[in-house]
Amino acid sequence: MSKANLYKAPRGTFDILPGQSYKWQWITEKFREIASVFNYREIVTPIFEVVDLFERSVGSTTDIVEKEMYIFTDRKDRVFALRPEGTAPVVRSTIENHLQKDGNISKLFYLGPMFRYDRPQKGRYRQFYQYGIELIGSRHPYNDAEVIWFADMFVRNLGIKDFCLEINSIGCPKCSIEYDKVLVSFFSKYKPDLCPDCHNRIATNPKRLLDCKVSKCRTIAKDAPLILDYLDQECDYHFKNVCSYLDYLNIKYDINPFIVRGLDYYNRTAFEITDTSRKTQNALLGGGRYDGLFATLGGSDTPAIGFAGGFERLIGAMEQNNLCFGNEPAPDAYLIIIGDRAVPEGLKLIMELRDKGIKTEYNIEKNSLKAQMKAAANSKARYALMLGDDEIDTKTITIKDLDKGIQNTYPQEYLITFLIKS
Ligand code: HAM
Repeated sequence: MSKANLYKAPRGTFDILPGQSYKWQWITEKFREIASVFNYREIVTPIFEVVDLFERSVGSTTDIVEKEMYIFTDRKDRVFALRPEGTAPVVRSTIENHLQKDGNISKLFYLGPMFRYDRPQKGRYRQFYQYGIELIGSRHPYNDAEVIWFADMFVRNLGIKDFCLEINSIGCPKCSIEYDKVLVSFFSKYKPDLCPDCHNRIATNPKRLLDCKVSKCRTIAKDAPLILDYLDQECDYHFKNVCSYLDYLNIKYDINPFIVRGLDYYNRTAFEITDTSRKTQNALLGGGRYDGLFATLGGSDTPAIGFAGGFERLIGAMEQNNLCFGNEPAPDAYLIIIGDRAVPEGLKLIMELRDKGIKTEYNIEKNSLKAQMKAAANSKARYALMLGDDEIDTKTITIKDLDKGIQNTYPQEYLITFLIKS
């Protein structure tokens, strides 16, 4: 009788098991390749920060800060949060380490776990992994397009086809004064029909009324005034330029005036890429411009734009479309050691192969040829190498191609060349 599990991974978290971890590695490599092509450099920040950093940047009335942060007090009563997102920490680090020199552009990327306490479901976890980039130091609309280009190219390079890139401008604080007023007056008429969160949003965060997921609120929001009609001249000019640059780059996008993003630091360009084959938790990535965040966090006035996405959702989209994650790792060769005499010879041979970078496996505990052959097949090795008394006496090795079932004996000195060539 099997024992019941004493422990389980916490709700909303999961183990990345060996049969899955190569997929993560593959996507990470693809992300790093594109980051390198676009000349981004990696930044790694701690997974916890003082809680105030997120309250001031993400916004005290956002879902993330109001309901979703993992907050803890350390032994000296300092209050920290497990990071719910990566932008605020990157900005904090850029200011603290004087990474941004006037007139320069810093291009940074990051990868790592984020934490949000939300109701877990497929595609939504309490610990999830983000990849993200931040382009710091430019106000120019061509850099908005450059960041969106990166996002589009990354998703495309993974082979995902069912996706949609949507962009919007949410204007600047000046445009928001007028627009927020109009929104409040529009939604106030429907107050009794709005969900409790939207009730609060009327007073605290009117733009978030536009992207509420509750169907009653969505129906009402359909007729709401649109931000694009309230952009001031500069924001309008900026947005039109972003669209033109995307057009020059031949990047397909839709303008969606309901994209307002769930974090308060954004201004002007906001964008999302969604997986069109799914109805829920379908945001593959999202981002936007945040020109005011550096000043909010005590830095000098520094414009910036970036995006982040969740690995889990990319993997989900790729699995759904049977896309390839490269090959599941397997040994190049599995050495079958037959008889005691072959043990020291075999170990020497394995050392030589591994030194040459040839992935080699063996199992000295299994002593029958049959058991070792079975283990070689289970390991999905390309070749089984057999070493017994005959091979030792004649300085040969028997090589079986496990895909084709062909077996031949060769001089041992030829083995490395053979494995490297094939
Ligand atoms: P965000 O939209 O909150 O933006 O998150 C970005 C992406 O992270 C989402 O599109 C989704 O793919 C993934 N994600 C978010 N929450 C979860 C979750 N609970 N489980 C699984 N995946 C999730 C940000 O985080 C901004 N910092 C993006 C940014 C970077 N803006 C400018 N620079």
